[in-house]
Amino acid sequence: MKVLSMISAVCLVLLASSWVAGQTVRGNPKDGQAVYEKNCLRCHGNTLDGNGPDSKDLIVQPANLRSSVIRSKTDWELLVAISNGVLFSPMHSFRGKLTDQQMVDVLSYIRDVSPPGTVS
Ligand code: HEC
Repeated sequence: MKVLSMISAVCLVLLASSWVAGQTVRGNPKDGQAVYEKNCLRCHGNTLDGNGPDSKDLIVQPANLRSSVIRSKTDWELLVAISNGVLFSPMHSFRGKLTDQQMVDVLSYIRDVSPPGTVS
């Protein structure tokens, strides 16, 4: 009995994680670009390289969104960072500032400029 419930727990976890990993976010990159220019560009820069006009005043430098580190993260990980922010950094939470759709759109824009899994 115990073994059976353990097996089903493992199956559940596997199922849930493949569901999350299998999600591809479908937003509108064009709308996302407008969201980006208004909310993100000042830190992450015009070309997404992390050198926005405000970045020189920051101690924790904005992430280079073209880097292989970001490309290798899942949509889910990046969405969590955008909606919850990154602890102890100027990357604050955008929940409440942007709608879910806007966050998905801005992620699509980032993925368009910097496709996942490829290295420039
Ligand atoms: C005030 C400056 C600032 C603004 C505005 C800003 N960011 Fe950031 N962002 C940062 C910094 C700094 C980091 C790096 C945090 C770290 O590495 O500890 C970061 C990290 C990130 C990351 C990487 C998270 C990870 O998992 O490594 C993503 C994705 C991101 N930002 C997206 C966005 C998006 C999208 C917007 C606009 C909606 C935005 N940021 C606006 C400063 C900013």
